[in-house]
Amino acid sequence: MPAIEQSAPISDDRAPSRAPEPVNTSALPTTSVLHRPVDPAEGQIRKVLPAERHLLVEHLLRLDPLSRFMRFGGVVSDGAIARHGTRVTSGDAVAIGYFVDGELRAVAELHPLPPRAGKPASAEAAFSVEREFQGKGIGSALMRHLVLLAQNRGIEELQVVFLPSNAPMKNLAVHHAANFSMDDDEMIGRVQAPHATVFSRLREFFGDVFAVCSAAFDLQERTLPPSMRGN
Ligand SMILES: CC(C)(COP(=O)(O)OP(=O)(O)OC[C@H]1O[C@@H](n2cnc3c(N)ncnc32)[C@H](O)[C@@H]1OP(=O)(O)O)[C@@H](O)C(=O)NCCC(=O)NCCS
Repeated sequence: MPAIEQSAPISDDRAPSRAPEPVNTSALPTTSVLHRPVDPAEGQIRKVLPAERHLLVEHLLRLDPLSRFMRFGGVVSDGAIARHGTRVTSGDAVAIGYFVDGELRAVAELHPLPPRAGKPASAEAAFSVEREFQGKGIGSALMRHLVLLAQNRGIEELQVVFLPSNAPMKNLAVHHAANFSMDDDEMIGRVQAPHATVFSRLREFFGDVFAVCSAAFDLQERTLPPSMRGN
């Protein structure tokens, strides 16, 4: 396995030739211990707005070393993560997040890929769930939202690139992916997105309205003195 996975979305900002820390994938807790369905009362899933770039960067910086390595397929610097946050919130990419008490705890990113003649319109998907929130069904819930976003953008195929040792991502992809390809270094799961419908567009529209309101409430709450925050 190479030090750095080639097709994760931030390849140009990875640390040049530094060998990664050895990654102990057996340190991951087992499925049976961790997996329980996401409790909607604990958080909200909604789009990450451009003005919330700082929340995205803070989330990515909070990832434990193994999750960070798995997310980016290699060792990345804090500076590269900050630049990645800018790219996600200012370009063609879209991010959907899991928020708890105004903090962003998990993200799924959709990065449209350049069109290729004779190939379906496609995008790369990437996931990051903070350690204490892993194994609760959040990654699976984010995948369902990401398929909706892809659907409404005319994207037919979502590609998820991950290291072969990444059991949670493999399990997540198995439920959605139509096919997999694998070489020594990485696995690629390909998820087919259905065509957009009036209902899929309405779902995203109402989700966007909710995202703007929710972000405004979170911001307002953060500006209040602690005694007025109700907690
Ligand atoms: C991979 C990741 C996104 C999965 O998100 P999650 O919220 O932890 O996953 P879920 O709880 O939705 O579970 C997804 C599947 O993985 C399984 N799973 C969860 N934790 C697991 C573990 N430690 N080992 C093996 N399987 C596991 C679940 O049982 C579920 O499979 P099922 O649907 O067959 O029951 C998350 O662990 C993560 O962010 N890891 C670090 C970054 C990363 O690896 N990103 C992927 C490359 S872009």
